Amino acid sequence: MKGLLLAGGHGTRLRPLTFTGNKHLLPIANKPILFYGLENLARAGIREVGIILGPIKEGIVEAVGDGARFGLKVTYIHQPEPLGIAHAILIAEDFLRGEPFVVYLGDNLLKKGIGSFVKLFEEKQSDCVIGVTPTKEPQRFGVVEMENGRVVRLVEKPKQPRSNLALVGVYVFNDSVFEACRRIRPSWRGELEITDAIQTLIDMKKRVDVNFVEGWWKDTGKPEDLLEANQLVLQELEPCTKGSVEEGVVVTGNVVIGEGTVVRKESTIRGPVVIGRDCEIGPNVYIGPYTSIGDRTRIVGAEIENSIIMNDVVIECNRRIVDSIIGNHTTIIEHEKNRPRGFKFILGERTFASI
Ligand code: TTP
Repeated sequence: MKGLLLAGGHGTRLRPLTFTGNKHLLPIANKPILFYGLENLARAGIREVGIILGPIKEGIVEAVGDGARFGLKVTYIHQPEPLGIAHAILIAEDFLRGEPFVVYLGDNLLKKGIGSFVKLFEEKQSDCVIGVTPTKEPQRFGVVEMENGRVVRLVEKPKQPRSNLALVGVYVFNDSVFEACRRIRPSWRGELEITDAIQTLIDMKKRVDVNFVEGWWKDTGKPEDLLEANQLVLQELEPCTKGSVEEGVVVTGNVVIGEGTVVRKESTIRGPVVIGRDCEIGPNVYIGPYTSIGDRTRIVGAEIENSIIMNDVVIECNRRIVDSIIGNHTTIIEHEKNRPRGFKFILGERTFASI
């Protein structure tokens, strides 16, 4: 079985974070989102993976390379415009044709991986396996309607959902999906929708089986999704300290402190928290649960909770920062002597600040 990992798209809902890079490289617990997908594919026994690259492709090839570090052989496939998931499948047809394959949306995280999808596909000799999970906000997702254990209808982001089953961003197909993708027409948003392609498979009387996904599933489309995904992944953090912690620092819960990082006096770190390499944390800092801090970041005086702080960030202030996502090379400082007093911002387009 091959894999197709989608890393295209514009990532508009994650702006401004996606103005300067591909959303699939944003860190969740200090690891690019895309790596979780690659690891899940490798763990399911897949060895050959095509990665769909879209308009914002910078950094992906540098980060993933030939895939050897994941135990994979990676081929890059270019999709100039994000014209839909079914469009990406058609673009990859030459690479995929001839054996079943898993399509994995690169911004999806699944606690239990994708082994159950592959197993079901093989057991049932399916033409397609889709994953579903109950959700409180079905109108945000592709929604699957079922009768007597079989799928009868799929609707993309319905205004009045007739089921609470969201379509998870992992699918297994055989060659019949290419015909289905060719039969469909672009939706109102100009995309070849995967829901329409799967509906067409059902109409073609192909066998579509449903995998009820166990454990959490997270689609990281919006900033709050990143924070929630960060929480979910950090919940399973294995503690490990490679850096140094000065005497008197209080560390509780599961905490990872990377090599070369120093945590200075009068600081408290309450896990789960991950801190990368070569950071300077403290003196007099509180890092609270569900916080990820990247590499080479310096934090003095502040309290931080439930946040993603990326690389090369400087935070020097006696303030409390919560529920925040702070991009690379950002500086937040407080100078007592600064005149005129007041908040001073240099914020890029579409930045959000809550004070
Ligand atoms: P979406 O979340 O639908 O789109 P997006 O990532 O561009 O985000 P936004 O809506 O905020 O602009 O995409 C789901 C996943 O599929 C994501 O990992 C990107 C990928 N994708 C492609 O690779 N090609 C495509 O044509 C589309 C539509 C998505």
